[in-house]
Amino acid sequence: MNAAHRVLARLAGLRLGAALALLGAAVAAAPSLAADHGPAPGLTRIGIVGAGRMGGTLAELWSKAGYQVMISSRHPDDLRSLAQSLGSNVSVGTPEEAARFGDVVVISVPYGAEPAVGKELSAELKDKVVIDLGNPYPERDGPMANDARREGTGVASARFFPGARLVRAFNAITYVDLRKDAHRAGAPVAIPIACDDPRATRTVSRLVLAAGFEPVVVGGLSKARLFDVDTPVYVKPMSASQLRAALGLSGP
Ligand SMILES: NC(=O)c1ccc[n+]([C@@H]2O[C@H](COP(=O)([O-])OP(=O)(O)OC[C@H]3O[C@@H](n4cnc5c(N)ncnc54)[C@H](OP(=O)(O)O)[C@@H]3O)[C@@H](O)[C@H]2O)c1
Repeated sequence: MNAAHRVLARLAGLRLGAALALLGAAVAAAPSLAADHGPAPGLTRIGIVGAGRMGGTLAELWSKAGYQVMISSRHPDDLRSLAQSLGSNVSVGTPEEAARFGDVVVISVPYGAEPAVGKELSAELKDKVVIDLGNPYPERDGPMANDARREGTGVASARFFPGARLVRAFNAITYVDLRKDAHRAGAPVAIPIACDDPRATRTVSRLVLAAGFEPVVVGGLSKARLFDVDTPVYVKPMSASQLRAALGLSGP
């Protein structure tokens, strides 16, 4: 239940005068809530490359929020029943088709596959907002994962996706918590974001809200290392104020 819904739910238990005053507040709040949570005009299409645990969960959250989503696979037929179960605003394609489709494209593949994916999709991803949520694990991704951990994923991933407006986000939460904590009651779970492009940062912040979380902008891509694998904030659900405190950031 979001803030406007909570206000409206309380109306039932109030006397008329107080109820009308509260209703006025709810109506006044509604446009900004809608503006923050709903699809932005002209920015409604999300392409997801790698619709496994993370990609599939995000597809569900954003399709529920009203976005047009294309999930993709190297074997698109395997995704048809998932797409059908998610609703009519979810379609299926190849990774190339999803990258072309999205105003925003999410790369949700094993980190070791990112250099090849970045090369294969370089034309489609040029100038697009690209969310990279991959995490480097040497046991899965090989020696490149050690290099990425050493220099920080924001810096390493920028080399895999030249020409894209790259954003690190959604890497520091598990797919289990992503589903469980979306739109949770009380303080939302914070999603740290690192990006060098202010417009892309705003776009992804909006998608974080739409998914049912609170964006915390940590800084440019070089700061993505602050929420990489094995940092104190990695895969530990925290509110925005807890996350800011843990990272030594000042207020919003
Ligand atoms: N699982 C989590 O809780 C979690 C949390 C945060 C971040 N992450 C990170 O997010 C990324 C995805 O994790 P996941 O758990 O969602 O993985 P997953 O369930 O295994 O899904 C990964 C998807 O990537 C595609 N893929 C696999 N190898 C590929 C390749 N060589 N080239 C292109 N596509 C390939 C597969 O799609 P097709 O085979 O259908 O093409 C698969 O559906 C990883 O980097 C992971 O470290 C995971």
